[in-house]
Amino acid sequence: MSQPSGYPQASRPDHVPQNLVVDFDFLNLPGSDKDVQAAYAAFQQSSPDIFWTPRNGGHWVATRAEDIIAMQRDTDTFSNRSVTLPPMPEGAPRQIPLEIDPPEHARYRRPLMQALTPGVVGELEEDVRQVAIDAIEALAPKGECEFIEDFAKVLPIHVFLKLVDLPVEDKDFLLPIAEKSVRAREIAQRVEAHQEMGAYLMKYVMERRENPKDDLLSKLVNVDLGGERISLDEALRYAILVLFGGLDTVAGMIGFVGAFLATHDDHRRQLVERLDDEKFLKSAIEELIRRHGIANTARVLTKDLTYKGVELKKGDRILPPNLLAGMDDRVNENPFEVNFEREKPVHAAFGNGAHACPGATLARRELRVFLQEWLSRIPDFHIKPGTKPHFETGQVNGVLRLDLVWP
Ligand code: HEM
Repeated sequence: MSQPSGYPQASRPDHVPQNLVVDFDFLNLPGSDKDVQAAYAAFQQSSPDIFWTPRNGGHWVATRAEDIIAMQRDTDTFSNRSVTLPPMPEGAPRQIPLEIDPPEHARYRRPLMQALTPGVVGELEEDVRQVAIDAIEALAPKGECEFIEDFAKVLPIHVFLKLVDLPVEDKDFLLPIAEKSVRAREIAQRVEAHQEMGAYLMKYVMERRENPKDDLLSKLVNVDLGGERISLDEALRYAILVLFGGLDTVAGMIGFVGAFLATHDDHRRQLVERLDDEKFLKSAIEELIRRHGIANTARVLTKDLTYKGVELKKGDRILPPNLLAGMDDRVNENPFEVNFEREKPVHAAFGNGAHACPGATLARRELRVFLQEWLSRIPDFHIKPGTKPHFETGQVNGVLRLDLVWP
């Protein structure tokens, strides 16, 4: 289990009835050392659909797919202006474009969508595939590895550095900072990580503002906000978010899927046998993503509202955990079970509405490359005896350590 967040418990506001209070600390969930998503889902079963927790600053939690999706779509009522829990200090700079609400948000987001087209993703894929092959072929003869450091993190950092056309060697410097920014329990440490990242990226941001090239970074840092160019400060925050957005999330996803396949021989064999079956692989990938949701971003109420009989007040924070949509037995039969041929798995792993993840196609592609290249070279692998995977819950759920062995 993760460390307790150590954040002081909030006292229950007057409008929150006692029967809707549940002790839910998403940084410290019972059972998450074995199965992160099941640990969240336990609350779905035992608690009201919408409840309030005094943990991490005090916030609501919506547990059912219907509400999670509705809240993500309704940015007028459920604002993105502060998505972290515990909340960042008042006045902290917003993450761009994640913490900007529509309609302003669209201008910021446009270049990202234009830059991450299926064509660009296709070009990147070739490169990512080669990186994956090189990494796997170096590992295969060893018969063992620490999967997270040796593989899961390798693809996404490479993808980012390629996308923004920065030196690939910089990955050794960037990875620990990225880790700290999402994993650190203390807000001060997270802020420090952002500052370190900012210091690194600033040089390149300034360079690309002066001499734009044809890469994603140049597009982001020169966004036209209706006749005016994005400020240097915002441009930097934008670059930082794109880096963080695609790094830990993808590493987490590959980590969870790696741990699942290492412990589920039947599923692994099914994949190995049908790696060339595009339709099957596509549906298997969607099912793996449904069962292993990653990201959590909170919302802030913009007005008083009675939602399904629950009185929410302007300024309240609410967490609609993306992964709980996939674990909801009202929309997915036997949600704990991974069924590669499940018809239409419902999930919200990449969010919904205005902020839905622009990197989703890329992330799915990275997962596919991993499955194809790893399983065709190392089809049979398990958790190293005497070790166990080290999972962690948080704003981005992840796998910190996963020791694997193979014949
Ligand atoms: C498995 C991998 C990934 C997962 C689970 C994931 C999840 C998400 C989710 C749930 C959101 C919406 C957050 C919200 O509504 O508050 C989001 C937004 C975002 N993601 Fe991803 N993501 C992944 C990969 C990526 C990649 C590869 C990139 C970059 C290339 C990326 C960049 C972003 C950005 C920039 C946003 C903010 C979009 C906006 O506010 O308009 N993500 N992601």
